[in-house]
Amino acid sequence: MQSAFPFIPESASTISGDVDAVYFYISGVTVFFTTLISLVIIFFCIRYRRRNAFEIPRPVEGSTKLETLWTVIPLLIAMSIFVWGAKVYFAQYRPPQNALEVYVVGKQWMWKFQHITGQREINELHVPVGRKIKLIMTTEDVIHDVFIPAFRIKTDVVPGKYTTEWFEATKPGRYHLFCAEYCGMNHSGMGGYVVVMEPKDFDNWLSGNANQLSPAAAGQSMYESLGCASCHGANGEGGRGPALLGVFNSNVVLNSGQTVAADEAYLRESIINPQAKIVTGFGPIMPSFQGQVNEEQLLHLVAFVKSLSTTKPETPTAKPPPASARPSAAPAASPRR
Ligand code: CUA
Repeated sequence: MQSAFPFIPESASTISGDVDAVYFYISGVTVFFTTLISLVIIFFCIRYRRRNAFEIPRPVEGSTKLETLWTVIPLLIAMSIFVWGAKVYFAQYRPPQNALEVYVVGKQWMWKFQHITGQREINELHVPVGRKIKLIMTTEDVIHDVFIPAFRIKTDVVPGKYTTEWFEATKPGRYHLFCAEYCGMNHSGMGGYVVVMEPKDFDNWLSGNANQLSPAAAGQSMYESLGCASCHGANGEGGRGPALLGVFNSNVVLNSGQTVAADEAYLRESIINPQAKIVTGFGPIMPSFQGQVNEEQLLHLVAFVKSLSTTKPETPTAKPPPASARPSAAPAASPRR
């Protein structure tokens, strides 16, 4: 489906109108000045042409007024593009807090999606209309890129880290999803569809597929089978290793004295490369799990640690062992925001 404007894809997210407005504004400014300057060049060529072979032009001393004008006006125009563009960019690339999260793993040459309730999909993503959706994305191999033209969003998916992108679809339908980073032979075939459904239909769809472990539950069973509990406690309450209860979204003090935010990327790094950021009061005793867990399993472990924060009150995490074994029932204030 195309919009009324040729070459412009359909507009189907809360952000797409803003992106189009900036795009048309920049195009308009460009076309206006290209035309104006071209016409002025042609006019001056004729008006000030050499009239006889011995003509010597009058020397030009300069004009402060004119020079100020042609500096200030382009500056204001350039700044308007910058400020407006930055505003839309920040809205586009800062995921809102209350979004529905979907895990995305790119792989030569397919997209794997998993909902927080456990449903998996390949090359197709079902989402409800009118709800903010946040994609937490990584890749098993090379760089890919999730591009959904109708939503005007496009973000690289990079090995070894998590990137995010968010959208809120404004009308039900099927929207093309592309990989927008050349990733090998079948790059052009690495695409699919985002299926935007009415909330009721989405709930039906979700319950019709409800036979899979949620990422958090899958993460919990990995937590047990990998033996994480022997240091981090059976319920993440801590021990020889730091407590995991409430660690997500908290500020962690490292033994270097530095403080870092415990986001998804921090949790991932602490599993793959535990020596990189050691929590103050703990020794460098944790082995690396590089090669033992794939990206999907890492997302499950991260989802499990995150679930320890949303269902349990926050606890201080940077305490040396034995960390306050159980959190008190009273909800503690979040250290962030
Ligand atoms: Cu994946 Cu191109």
